[in-house]
Amino acid sequence: MALLEVEDLRVAFGGSTAVDGVDFQVDEGQVVGLVGESGCGKSVTSLAIMGLLPRQSKVTARKRHRGGVTVSGRARFEGKDLLTLPRNEMRKRRGQELAMVFQDPLSSLNPVVRIGVQITEVLERHRGLRGEAARKEAAHLLDRVGIPDPTRRLTEYPHQLSGGMRQRVLIAIAVACAPRLLIADEPTTALDVTIQAQILELLKDLVDSEGTALLMITHDLGVVAGLCDEVNVLYSGRVVESAPARDLFARPTHPYTVGLLKSIPRLDLPIHEPLHPIRGSIVDVIRWKDGCAFAPRCDSVTEKCVEGEPALVGTEHAHRCVMAEEIA
Ligand SMILES: Nc1ncnc2c1ncn2[C@@H]1O[C@H](COP(=O)(O)OP(=O)(O)OP(=O)(O)O)[C@@H](O)[C@H]1O
Ligand SMILES: [Mg+2]
Repeated sequence: MALLEVEDLRVAFGGSTAVDGVDFQVDEGQVVGLVGESGCGKSVTSLAIMGLLPRQSKVTARKRHRGGVTVSGRARFEGKDLLTLPRNEMRKRRGQELAMVFQDPLSSLNPVVRIGVQITEVLERHRGLRGEAARKEAAHLLDRVGIPDPTRRLTEYPHQLSGGMRQRVLIAIAVACAPRLLIADEPTTALDVTIQAQILELLKDLVDSEGTALLMITHDLGVVAGLCDEVNVLYSGRVVESAPARDLFARPTHPYTVGLLKSIPRLDLPIHEPLHPIRGSIVDVIRWKDGCAFAPRCDSVTEKCVEGEPALVGTEHAHRCVMAEEIA
């Protein structure tokens, strides 16, 4: 059984769809990438899994057409659907069994609470550590994520730390309970390249030493190449390709994945070789019903592409492109 099995996950804000039937899975101890450009639904997918989107109560159901959030589908964690789990059970699991490193470290930390308190809070709640024992463990966690002079840092506020340090604090909080699954939403995007490499190294270390499974959300295929076992490429709220990382880089099948790979600057190409960006930009309205949502930006588009919804075909290396064979 997979550790996390996401099936037909859909999220809509008011009338507009943000996630339109996402399927993927994460096995025990595996590193899985969720890749795609800005706005394709990566953060919303992870928030839905963590139960951090407003739940549909009787009140929100009535408000549905006034901007409420609708979430449907399944996100089974060890067989139990997180989307329908009672709030208090979800709260127990969150932090202990599944943890998340949020995209924006400054706004995810409480600005008026000392770092130490923010870490010991988790240790008290989920591991029952109190007082000196909790403080010691908090310092140990900061040390483990590479923050120098951890005892002093515990007494400081988030604004006194650098962006990279704040990101490390978030990781320290997330791994405080050795979760079975860690969701990291663009944990390195706001950081410079050297810190980025250190954070990735740190995450890799945790996965190796604790057997934590990692869902790595990123728009950076370089990060994916260095870290992930499996990759899911998301476009406009749906998975358009999923494959073992090595396979995806060796034989990208969906034109969107091909475009993403082509748009990476390469040092081994002649110096005047132009970059190959994907033309156009992601549209706000998701249109999968009338055909492939990527069709307006695709160089290999044919009439076949807009004759109805393309299905995800294949198991090991799956893609959502009706022209895949012709293109290959
Ligand atoms: N609270 C919200 N209310 C309304 N729409 C939202 C909300 N949160 C996200 N969306 C919409 O959902 C879509 C997906 O957003 P999401 O944050 O998941 O993108 P993303 O893939 O994480 O992008 P990025 O790479 O920029 O972080 C976007 O069109 C966004 O405008
Ligand atoms: Mg995001």
